[in-house]
Amino acid sequence: MENNLLRLVDHDKDFFSRRCIWVNGPVIVGAGPSGLATAACLREQGVPFVVLERAECIASLWQKRTYDRLKLHLPKQFCQLPKLPFPEDFPEYPTKRQFIQYLESYAKHFEINPRFNECVQSARYDETSGLWRVKTVTASGPSHCTTEVEYICQWLIVATGENAERVVPDFEGLKDFGGEVMHVCDYKSGETFEGKEVLVVGCGNSGMEVSLDLCNHNATPSMVVRSSVHVLPREIFGKSSFELAILMMRWLPLWLVDMLLLILAWLILGNIEKYGLKRPAMGPLELKNVKGKTPVLDIGAFKKIRSGDIKVVPAIKRFSRGQVELENGQKLRIDSVVFATGYRSNVPSWLQESEFFSKNGFPKSSFPHAWKGNAGLYAVGFTRRGLSGASFDAIRIAQDIGKVWKDETKHKKTTTACHRRCISQY
Ligand SMILES: Cc1cc2nc3c(=O)[nH]c(=O)nc-3n(C[C@H](O)[C@H](O)[C@H](O)COP(=O)(O)OP(=O)(O)OC[C@H]3O[C@@H](n4cnc5c(N)ncnc54)[C@H](O)[C@@H]3O)c2cc1C
Ligand SMILES: NC(=O)c1ccc[n+]([C@@H]2O[C@H](COP(=O)([O-])OP(=O)(O)OC[C@H]3O[C@@H](n4cnc5c(N)ncnc54)[C@H](OP(=O)(O)O)[C@@H]3O)[C@@H](O)[C@H]2O)c1
Repeated sequence: MENNLLRLVDHDKDFFSRRCIWVNGPVIVGAGPSGLATAACLREQGVPFVVLERAECIASLWQKRTYDRLKLHLPKQFCQLPKLPFPEDFPEYPTKRQFIQYLESYAKHFEINPRFNECVQSARYDETSGLWRVKTVTASGPSHCTTEVEYICQWLIVATGENAERVVPDFEGLKDFGGEVMHVCDYKSGETFEGKEVLVVGCGNSGMEVSLDLCNHNATPSMVVRSSVHVLPREIFGKSSFELAILMMRWLPLWLVDMLLLILAWLILGNIEKYGLKRPAMGPLELKNVKGKTPVLDIGAFKKIRSGDIKVVPAIKRFSRGQVELENGQKLRIDSVVFATGYRSNVPSWLQESEFFSKNGFPKSSFPHAWKGNAGLYAVGFTRRGLSGASFDAIRIAQDIGKVWKDETKHKKTTTACHRRCISQY
């Protein structure tokens, strides 16, 4: 990869050092599935690239911030990245370990070697030179020596994910609670919660699955449902609900597919509202399209709700020592709290740009137009369509850059000389 990098300035290796690196090709920020998929597609186009990753491994969300029992919740054909399918012997729903193994071999296959421990602090487009300036900070070694690097490139690909940072709401009295409090990204298994009363805040896929995991480890979870939620069985009559929805969408309008899904869900699960799980007014697919809210694909939690092993409770009013007070005035004694309250994009904290990305860290345009901005800016994996959406973006980005790259490399000598001149002004 160093071939792609032309080091312009390399100061001493003291406590604080600064470097400036010209990247021949795009800089990809993030080595999750989206960044890897884009890198692989660029590799196929013969375009060199640099991947910057804040963690010390690829797919850090999957390796470090997910619980042990996690499996892909869509069948494998909807989760594989471009150009390299999952191994044939993988099950229909690969485990987290298998998915990581696949990503590791994917990176190896396409010779993707990210620059680890490089957290992008800022990126801005320099109008004068027509180039992106991307600053990273690395803290390494026992003395925590800090290195600042500035990468200069023609194309910037944002692949930092929809789930870059945890969301933890602030509740009155939480600091006086006294028990264990964690976000679901730090939850690994219910093993350490055996015999405990646990409040799980949130009823998305994480909240549901962690509540189930807690039950399976003889803990007693109470799950907070503050608004509404669509619960669908992961499979309907042996076929994945997701696959079924995709098939039906080929022939039927979205509202009708939503209606059929809800009828089928009712046949399998019954009336979930009886158990405190109010359904949203919009259908599951429409809600996903309009608000980005993912339906829960049930893998057993609902049965535990029906049996009373998972208690469904309303919104939180406040915490106090060892207990939580709910909106309905009920007070529960609890030992621990797991916030399964979701994630957010971190793009606004580092990307100095406001035309393509909005303040919430997502592109302003929606699928299928959310992959390309102005001046060589691209986004992959921000259409709330999981891994298949990321693959769609990755293919288009690589084709788009590949075309320009092929034209430009015909006049490579002139172009490189011009860029170098631009950089040397700063
Ligand atoms: C628990 C869980 C289960 C999921 N299961 C599925 C599933 O079964 N199927 C599905 O399709 N989707 C699933 N998803 C959605 C999932 O987020 C995506 O499918 C996938 O991980 C997105 O990949 P990504 O590369 O866009 O983002 P991420 O996997 O989040 O990768 C982004 C990378 O960018 C790095 N990064 C962030 N900020 C910076 C920075 N400033 N500088 C440098 N690097 C940075 C991060 O460290 C990370 O490695 C799941 C999500 C969660 C939370
Ligand atoms: N097996 C799998 O593949 C799997 C497993 C887990 C997660 N995922 C995916 O990962 C992504 C994130 O899922 P997630 O479940 O972690 O997050 P999520 O879908 O964003 O759900 C967050 C939940 O927290 C609730 N919440 C937020 N703030 C709250 C507050 N102040 N008080 C009470 N409740 C609050 C939300 O309620 P409101 O709806 O009222 O806002 C919602 O129920 C999704 O795309 C999901 O599909 C996949």
